[in-house]
Amino acid sequence: MESKSKASFNLALNLILLLLNLPLRVVLSVDEYSINDFPLDFVFGSGTTAYQWEGAVNEDGRTPSVWDTFAHDGDMHEENGDVACDGYHKYKEDVKLMVETGLEAYRFSISWSRLIPNGRGPINPKALEFYNNLINELISNGIQPHVTLNNFDFPQALEDEYGGWISPQMISDFTNYADVCFREFGDRVLYWITVNEPNMIALGGYDQAIVPPQHCSPPFCVNKSIRGNSTTEPYLVVHHILLAHSSAVRLYRTKYKV
Ligand SMILES: *[C@@H]1O[C@H](CO)[C@@H](O)[C@H](O)[C@H]1NC(C)=O
Ligand SMILES: *[C@@H]1O[C@H](CO)[C@@H](O)[C@H](O)[C@H]1NC(C)=O
Repeated sequence: MESKSKASFNLALNLILLLLNLPLRVVLSVDEYSINDFPLDFVFGSGTTAYQWEGAVNEDGRTPSVWDTFAHDGDMHEENGDVACDGYHKYKEDVKLMVETGLEAYRFSISWSRLIPNGRGPINPKALEFYNNLINELISNGIQPHVTLNNFDFPQALEDEYGGWISPQMISDFTNYADVCFREFGDRVLYWITVNEPNMIALGGYDQAIVPPQHCSPPFCVNKSIRGNSTTEPYLVVHHILLAHSSAVRLYRTKYKV
């Protein structure tokens, strides 16, 4: 009797375990995902930004961006992007690392003030050479370039001249810069990002002044009030970024997309 009930208890237990097994396996298999669990067209990659990766800030005709100014104002405690990852000189080694890692794509940003020193006017041939070399190195190694046109580091010259994104002049200067990028690199670059994180540019740069160009007004300043107006500038900035974005997209669609 006793062994019979024990047997049926065991049977019931096994059944329960069996039924539990499936959902339990699903829950526990989180760390068992492999590349095959993703859609076939899912792209694996990594990303950097120009100021954090390139270094070589004073080389070959590059002029400062608002991030150079910020980093050298002492707000980053001796840290700056003067050398950074030295990608400007070491891009071939980095592409090799990407291949070894098995990356399919690499997202990087172009330094506006390297390609067009001072933000507008003549193109810097040395910068063209660098970005062409980088793009070609990626492509010959089977890695898709994904390019961000502006990742926070707009030219200091445009900040000095008219206040950067608070001015509608940024729309035409950004569109001209985008035009140069599409024209020079668009035969090989198929994926473009216009302006990285407009929300952070507005909040950090024009409301709280925690990132360049450090505009704010009391009581919104996190550290010190330098100049600006936290009530109006963040909205102007996002407005102009959205217009610059749509202007660049319209240009791309009408002039470059076949
Ligand atoms: C804000 O002030 C704190 C304290 O002085 C300092 O550690 C921090 O770096 C400053 N941050 C910025 C973005 O200025
Ligand atoms: C910000 O701009 C608004 C609208 O022009 C104005 O009323 C306000 O006084 C300004 N604030 C500062 C701190 O300048």
